[in-house]
Amino acid sequence: MKKLIAAASLCVASFSAHSAIIVPEHDINAGKQIAETVCAACHGVDGVSPIPSQPNLGGQNVKYLYKQLINFKSGYRVNGIMQSQVANLSQQDMANVAAYYANQAPWSVGFGNPATHQEATKLYLGGAKSRNVIGCAGCHGPDAAGNAWAAFPRLGGQHAEYISTQLKLFRAAGREDEVDGDAQMRYNDAAKEGEKGMMQTVASRLSDRDIRILSDYISAVH
Ligand code: HEC
Ligand code: HEC
Repeated sequence: MKKLIAAASLCVASFSAHSAIIVPEHDINAGKQIAETVCAACHGVDGVSPIPSQPNLGGQNVKYLYKQLINFKSGYRVNGIMQSQVANLSQQDMANVAAYYANQAPWSVGFGNPATHQEATKLYLGGAKSRNVIGCAGCHGPDAAGNAWAAFPRLGGQHAEYISTQLKLFRAAGREDEVDGDAQMRYNDAAKEGEKGMMQTVASRLSDRDIRILSDYISAVH
């Protein structure tokens, strides 16, 4: 019960932090131009990426997309490929292209792994109390559609390989191991100086196996 309350209060804290993200007025057609000329090679014109290390973007919530672009631009989220993509984009460009992708139909889901589906469903929905693992559904939704208002990302149907990489980055940023210097880091906003962010806290309790089965599960859930 204590853990449930802890997870719930994490959610409440994050709600106030994330609802504060304000996306400027945007122009979807201007965003389309950027998507077609710069982003489509890796994320598709419709936000469906054919490559498992590159995330799908179509139908993702606009606050979340905009926040990630700002984070890449400021170096708060470290990834060489994406940081060079946003280097020449203004804040307005980022709002426009985020809005364009958010306006596309959500990507479709994969097949997951039937062998671990049941175990992963339990973990996703309820966590594992004996190991302090916090469930995911409280923030990302039982169907993994995310929470547009709170800027919690849609996860359902995202590439398993991408999900797994991100969970390991959150985990490593919390533990300061496994990351290759500053070349690959992933933080999130809830972190105050010296504290773990929301997803770092969540990921710090996940084993490699948890990450594998959750990533497979997430790639198929809807
Ligand atoms: C050369 C390939 C490439 C191009 C071009 C590219 N991206 Fe990316 N993008 C990536 C990769 C790889 C990642 C995953 C980074 C990571 O692992 O943290 C990513 C991640 C993202 C994310 C984070 C998504 C999430 O779920 O957190 C957003 C948003 C994004 N890209 C938007 C864009 C936009 C907008 C453009 C065009 C301005 C663009 N990208 C161009 C490769 C690319
Ligand atoms: C307390 C709320 C909360 C809980 C519980 C939570 N998440 Fe998250 N998650 C977030 C937030 C907020 C972000 C966005 C962080 C950012 O803005 O970079 C996120 C981001 C992610 C991402 C990155 C998505 C992307 O497109 O890059 C993955 C993967 C993820 N969460 C998986 C999980 C899994 C798996 C669980 C359960 C084990 C979980 N989350 C539990 C709040 C939560």
